Amino acid sequence: MSLKNRKRAFNVLKKRFRSRRVSSLLLEHKINDDLFKKLQTTAAVYISKCLPDNKFITNEKKLLKTLEELESSIPNITPNGMIVPKRHTILEYNLLVSAFSDIIESMNFNDLISSWHIPLNLRIKYGEINQANMKRHHPTEHIHSDSWAGESSESVTVHIPIFGDVPNNHVCFYEPPEEFEEEWLKPRPSYIDGEEIAKKYSKIDFVPRKGRILLADFAGLHASTRLPNAGPRISIDTTFVLKRPGDERKPETIHPWRENERASQETLGSLGSDHLFYFADTNEQFVDSEGGFKHPTNLEVLEIV
Ligand SMILES: [Fe+2]
Repeated sequence: MSLKNRKRAFNVLKKRFRSRRVSSLLLEHKINDDLFKKLQTTAAVYISKCLPDNKFITNEKKLLKTLEELESSIPNITPNGMIVPKRHTILEYNLLVSAFSDIIESMNFNDLISSWHIPLNLRIKYGEINQANMKRHHPTEHIHSDSWAGESSESVTVHIPIFGDVPNNHVCFYEPPEEFEEEWLKPRPSYIDGEEIAKKYSKIDFVPRKGRILLADFAGLHASTRLPNAGPRISIDTTFVLKRPGDERKPETIHPWRENERASQETLGSLGSDHLFYFADTNEQFVDSEGGFKHPTNLEVLEIV
């Protein structure tokens, strides 16, 4: 797909909700205050459920301090900072996704969503880079497109900073050059393999903020970034395939999707009523993420009848 077509699709998307066009392929929308508060509360309740000793913390500062103190004793955090849903967090995780879905519904673009990548990720990025993680295949600190980890290049990255030191610990975005080639977005064994392509991009002078949702086309690149003495940051990230003008294809003809890693907005919007995200694994059970090409969970979408 050409850059021109990608920009055209973003023009259509932009018309649906109030937003700032940070760059031609990056939109920033201020989330309704009540909806963002609900997202923060459900995130805190979900994280609390992952803490040892039945702790229950909804205060942002206390939560971050506790997460720093207990970093090594929370088993369901991956080296990339993903707080992985487990059997004992099913209810809390569904509430969190439901709060996320409410934000999407408020933006009036359901009909432009072909399908979501599920489960969406709640992530903590501590102030210090996890050096062991940098040796893995897909550390989010390397400049990358999520398509390099195997997702459809026709997708859009969605990112919401929720808690923490976002000014010093955030995601940076990069704009493609005019000579962009679709071939640049093919999957790569590791993000570092895309280094030569990343050099062609220019960094966008932009710092994300809490309470704002960002939508970034996959032709752009991004990377987790920390400034010196940064504190931790908690955010949500996921992706969806954007329907392009004149494209009537079904999701499954776009990409060979991994089973159980796609859902419609309808499904996201019906969690708790018609559907439930179910995770069978306990904290003692880990999933092989197949070199970073599979989500580190075993998700089952249950239909409630
Ligand atoms: Fe990413």
